[in-house]
Amino acid sequence: MKSNQSQFQPPRVHELSPEEQAVYAQLDPERAPQHVAIIMDGNGRWAGKRLLKRFLGHKQGAESVQYVVETASRINLPWLTLYAFSLENNLRRPKSEVSFLMTLLKNYLVGNVERMNANNVRMAYIGRIHELPQEVRDTMQWASEETARNTGTTLTLALNYGARSEIIDATRSILNNLIAEAHKRGCSLEDMLQVDGLDTHLEEHHITNNLYTAHMPDPDLVIRTSGEQRISNFLLWQIAYSEIFVTERLWPDFRGVHLLEAIANYQQRERRFGGLGEGTDEHLAGLQPASEVAEEISTQLDQTASTLTRR
Ligand code: FPP
Repeated sequence: MKSNQSQFQPPRVHELSPEEQAVYAQLDPERAPQHVAIIMDGNGRWAGKRLLKRFLGHKQGAESVQYVVETASRINLPWLTLYAFSLENNLRRPKSEVSFLMTLLKNYLVGNVERMNANNVRMAYIGRIHELPQEVRDTMQWASEETARNTGTTLTLALNYGARSEIIDATRSILNNLIAEAHKRGCSLEDMLQVDGLDTHLEEHHITNNLYTAHMPDPDLVIRTSGEQRISNFLLWQIAYSEIFVTERLWPDFRGVHLLEAIANYQQRERRFGGLGEGTDEHLAGLQPASEVAEEISTQLDQTASTLTRR
């Protein structure tokens, strides 16, 4: 099931700050995004600008996380996914920074589970979680169990996450399932694929259903802080038709009101999913048939060619 129950509860608008309420009042509830994903960037620059050590930027960034999560829960956003720690961060950052981020994550979970429960927020994770230190995994599991009964916003932290690895993991599980199925039928994988046809076993939905996000709708909106215009290996499959909002604001300065501003901007966009714009459909019937248009173009080209030859 790709929805949770948060849409059935009234938003807690009275808990928003006056500044947030002013932006919220401009939003169209009919066009509320179901899933917002955020690439939290700029912690290091935030610290650098203040001549502080990088880790203080991360510490401040963890506070922004809680502000944004609570605003998301007050407006009843069903899904919020935060890119907290990439596979590349894990491999390419100094060990001391990685270990600080792990400690920060643990402290964040221990310190905020009570607030998550007060805000009806459910904790979840995506990524190669099994590669994280055992004590961090224990705290993560504890936090998800403590919040499992909440029905509001699902906060998903992408940890040790990379989208290409996610697609590799999905492909491996599809193959493992196929091998198991062939084994069950008592035939070889090759024979099974020949009988069934490859299409039966490999369509778009097979990939989607084997990603870490199988239970979630695709993000409607991806926000990236600190001005970089790239996706950095985040949810590559899932964001095929997401709207992207880049803000110059550094993550430690990002608050709930900025989430609401990004949603207001999103609501001004026209989403096409590869189709035509709104209102175009009505006059599709009145369009000139493609064969006639092709003939007209061909006549025009012939005329242009003969004019050029005469010159
Ligand atoms: C990017 O900033 C941010 C990260 C690599 C980690 C994100 C972590 C947090 C927001 C804090 C911890 C999160 C939780 C959930 C407790 P950067 O270091 O790449 O910044 P820079 O590009 O300015 O150097």
